[in-house]
Amino acid sequence: MIRYKNKRAIITGGAQGIGLACAQRLLDEGAQVLAADIQKWEGSAASSVLSESERFRYRRTDVTSRQEVETMVAEAVASFGGVDVLISNVGVAKKKPFLELTDEDLATGFQIDLVSMILCGQAVARQIKTQGTQGAIVHMSSVNGVMAMPGYTVYNVSKGGIEQLTRVMALELAPLSMHYPDKPKPGHPEGSRLDAKWSAPLGADRIKRQF
Ligand SMILES: NC(=O)c1ccc[n+]([C@@H]2O[C@H](COP(=O)([O-])OP(=O)(O)OC[C@H]3O[C@@H](n4cnc5c(N)ncnc54)[C@H](O)[C@@H]3O)[C@@H](O)[C@H]2O)c1
Repeated sequence: MIRYKNKRAIITGGAQGIGLACAQRLLDEGAQVLAADIQKWEGSAASSVLSESERFRYRRTDVTSRQEVETMVAEAVASFGGVDVLISNVGVAKKKPFLELTDEDLATGFQIDLVSMILCGQAVARQIKTQGTQGAIVHMSSVNGVMAMPGYTVYNVSKGGIEQLTRVMALELAPLSMHYPDKPKPGHPEGSRLDAKWSAPLGADRIKRQF
């Protein structure tokens, strides 16, 4: 089924993992896709399965920089004529005990895991407002938005914040016909990076038990 023909999407963190899977799926469903990531294109997982084309662009972007985020949106507009969908997917689960967190850990961590969602949301929503069209924004949350995990203060608090950010943006941007599908909360996708990090007691079984 071609559900997203003529839709123009931006996906952050699209060089690998869930972001790359979203990019592939949207391309399969007919969308035009700009994947943005801090990684270089050469050597990325995306470059081994996708090639740049009229319907696919890759842009190296640091989503913690307002200027780079605005340039990312400008490139999507230049390539596709506008933006309809944002999948804000960047998230880094850095483990560090609560008592050892430094000012730098807090500033950098929240900038990547939470503030970047605001920067990308603002830039895309402003573009959609200018277009006068409808749009959809998806925030990649996590089970950690509702379930606490020791050693992951910044990640847990950011994902909890994303739950609220989504509600606030949904209410405030509703007059622009912005649509917020429910926040995906990946738990433990098979074969994901967590397989290597989480041993059985912290894995899928534990998550299932807490719900
Ligand atoms: N994989 C899981 O099991 C899982 C579970 C729950 C939630 N999630 C969420 O899903 C999302 C994607 O997870 P994933 O496992 O695919 O992650 P991943 O680490 O495989 O990919 C994240 C991507 O973000 C990019 N990135 C990091 N910092 C960036 C920055 N400042 N600017 C631009 N790009 C940057 C990385 O280069 C990487 O390509 C995250 O928000 C994560 O919290 C994942």
